[in-house]
Amino acid sequence: MTATPRFAIAIDGPAASGKSTLARKLAERLGLVMVNSGAMYRAVTWKALRENIDPSDTAAVIDLLNRIDIHCGEEGMTSTCTIDGVDPGDELRSETINSNVSAISAIPEVRDKLVALQRGYLDHTSIVMEGRDIGSVVFPDTPYKIYVDASEEVRAARRIADGEVDSVAKRDAADSERATAPLKIADGAVVLDTSHHSIESGVDAAIEILKQQGLPTLP
Ligand code: DC
Repeated sequence: MTATPRFAIAIDGPAASGKSTLARKLAERLGLVMVNSGAMYRAVTWKALRENIDPSDTAAVIDLLNRIDIHCGEEGMTSTCTIDGVDPGDELRSETINSNVSAISAIPEVRDKLVALQRGYLDHTSIVMEGRDIGSVVFPDTPYKIYVDASEEVRAARRIADGEVDSVAKRDAADSERATAPLKIADGAVVLDTSHHSIESGVDAAIEILKQQGLPTLP
């Protein structure tokens, strides 16, 4: 029997669209590793702020990037990200990170470094990866692409329910308007609006889309 070749399922979408929950549940159901690419951009932002680097000071951010060791691995079935051996944990979800991460993630050198780490997962495992440019830039050739969306009201309400302070609309505008790898619906992606889905029905809908995209039946 030949083994199923490794593959990536790309889940993109705006902030609080439900993509993290969907990616996690899909990974659980399909027995794959879930990779949170946003956590990597958040971790670099966390480090920059700790070193009092202004996120708009591109040269200083690039200098930082060349000095730090970013390690992306996995624990169980979920990705992990440490910087110089430290896992920032819950600090990644702070209001300060939310309001600075878009500036850091607009820097092409930051993206180049993190995209290489993201692609590296596929060297050893099949993954569900969520982010903004997974279907368009990180894995443009994967046939498995979903763009998750939800109405602005639903997304704002989700952030409040999460207990997070996050200017979702402002962050989405910055992420969609940046020059490098902006948030967009990738070629071949199917849009899934989760506004009126429960978590489980959203996962069911996603699995139907993936089957139509040819996802192999997994063991
Ligand atoms: O998914 P998230 O909200 O945790 O992502 C945080 C930020 O990271 C997001 O506002 C933009 C950036 N990001 C990105 O530019 N590309 C990705 N693939 C994932 C996240």
